[in-house]
Amino acid sequence: MTTFVPPKQDFPLLVNREPIVYLDNAATTQKPEVVINALVDYYSQNNANVHRGVHQISDEATGMFEDARKTVAKFVNASAPDQILFTRGTTESLNLVAYTYAPTVLNDQTTVLITEMEHHSNFVPWQLICECMGAKLLAVKVNSDGTLNLDHFRELLRSNQVAIVAMTHVSNVLGTINPIREITDLAHENGAIVVIDGAQAAAHVDLDVQELDSDFYAFSSHKMYGPTGFGILYGRAELLREMGPWQGGGEMIKHVSLEKTTFQEPPHKFEAGTPDISGAIGLAAAIEYLAQQQSCGLSEFEEQLLSFATDTLLKIDGLRVIGTAAEKCGALSFLVDGTHPHDVGTLLNEQQVAVRTGHHCAIPLMEALGIPGTVRASFGLYNSKKDVDRLYEALKTAIRILRK
Ligand code: ALA
Repeated sequence: MTTFVPPKQDFPLLVNREPIVYLDNAATTQKPEVVINALVDYYSQNNANVHRGVHQISDEATGMFEDARKTVAKFVNASAPDQILFTRGTTESLNLVAYTYAPTVLNDQTTVLITEMEHHSNFVPWQLICECMGAKLLAVKVNSDGTLNLDHFRELLRSNQVAIVAMTHVSNVLGTINPIREITDLAHENGAIVVIDGAQAAAHVDLDVQELDSDFYAFSSHKMYGPTGFGILYGRAELLREMGPWQGGGEMIKHVSLEKTTFQEPPHKFEAGTPDISGAIGLAAAIEYLAQQQSCGLSEFEEQLLSFATDTLLKIDGLRVIGTAAEKCGALSFLVDGTHPHDVGTLLNEQQVAVRTGHHCAIPLMEALGIPGTVRASFGLYNSKKDVDRLYEALKTAIRILRK
């Protein structure tokens, strides 16, 4: 193990709800005190609408809001802050691309490629828009170890006129880290643009949209220690410039008349109405906190903790890990012979261990793997070996009860 010490004391909920072991971080993470304080300070000191007022408080709020955009741009290494769009979350970011960019390239000759491991949020929007445009939707197969079948990906790229590849960076069920740069290069060689669902990656993987050569990259604040209801869409500058608006309303316009409305430049063209100002400020505080933890060896610690958790759970007779890719992070899914995931989750809860069970909003993946669901333990920066030991002991008890 590295010398990184999980800072549980920074998270009021974890302290207040002791002895709960929180292992549902892929669903949402807890918030450190600095993020909670940033929200309280904003509402106590600086609350005003942005980009509208001539008064001092509005100026301050606007400055904080646009500074948050700069913080996000730096976090993902975007070349300019105006490539960062504020949304309600990954789901809205993906829908934004599906409904504003996709109609310009989809028709009855073109295809959208997704994968069998997509969360419904990177599946359903594509299904809806493909139905609407008469385009084809195809899914790349997942191998039994939870890696993507790259031969199948190449074959689908070769034999179809693929306009869009939409894929998750990290699977919310399997923990698999997909080879995004390799996939993006192949897609670009074939004239397709790539949309990445980074919801499960942002808290665990160093993000660099230039290094990944990303066209669109989406993620959520709440899965990386920031507030709920806030998300990001990074877009390549020339694509954002060409795209039409997402929603119509205040602040996204240059001029409005009965005959015609003209629109602002990105990112404001995509941000109709009063935005979630405190969400942006809270996310910026979360990014700064996360960066500080990363500089103390967080990534190496998380890698070691996942491997320790895997080895520990595999000591249990009849336990099968779902997703055994070499490159993994965040989530550890499993099944135990003779038990149902829901029953296991319920008995873990009775012993104060919080996990998620079921299909994890990835029904097509469950069907591809031929399983009813999984029990999923997912880790955050405050989890320790002690938490894994608690999970292990609680799991043994649950199995003993269920196998009686
Ligand atoms: N997408 C979240 C999860 O996988 C809700 O749990």
